Amino acid sequence: MTDHLPANDPRFESILLSAEQIAARIREIAATIAADYADTRSLHLLGVLKGACIFLADLGREIRRADGPSIQYEFIRASTYAGGIKEKHETSRPVAIASMPESLRGQDVLIVEDILDQGFTLHEIRRTLLDEMGARSVRICVLLNKQLDTPTPEVADLRERLVPDYVGFDVPDRWVAGYGLDIEEEFRDLPYVAIVREEQFQHVSV
Ligand code: IMP
Ligand code: MG
Repeated sequence: MTDHLPANDPRFESILLSAEQIAARIREIAATIAADYADTRSLHLLGVLKGACIFLADLGREIRRADGPSIQYEFIRASTYAGGIKEKHETSRPVAIASMPESLRGQDVLIVEDILDQGFTLHEIRRTLLDEMGARSVRICVLLNKQLDTPTPEVADLRERLVPDYVGFDVPDRWVAGYGLDIEEEFRDLPYVAIVREEQFQHVSV
């Protein structure tokens, strides 16, 4: 089956990553994770809802396939863009994190996130795990790593301090949707990742 964009939908520009490319890359990342955590008794995968749900499901099964460590799943809900798209020249954004699971206290945690954009979301989740939950180790796995064109100095600094341990794909500084990622809560179910025509959507400020 070939991927195709929703017929004549002017909100999309092109397919960036096909379902096959995504599946193949996840298998590779999973093999690396399985090897890196070979001596870990129990690895806690912390999925960031909602965007990481599909990536997490596929990644977890591939880690199992690669004979990785025993995995426990946890989820947190984080909201940074409130259904909208980022503005130009951002320096900070409030990140709303709904309750951190108590079971993560003192554990080896791998945060699984759909995309690293300006870094506000992952920075806050990692800080909470290390400072408030006393996690034994915290690593970050993102499917997509956005290469920012013109970050503000604040965002450039944040990104420098936030290097993800596992990355699926580097992607351009465009809004993307599909494979869990949304635009205004739509299109998470596309099996591929597509580039969105941002001008077709409203930019929501917080
Ligand atoms: P950050 O805090 O700026 O790194 O933003 C990360 C969060 O914003 C991710 O968890 C996504 O939910 C969302 N996000 C950022 N860029 C995109 C995108 O291009 N498409 C869909 N969601 C995105
Ligand atoms: Mg998200």
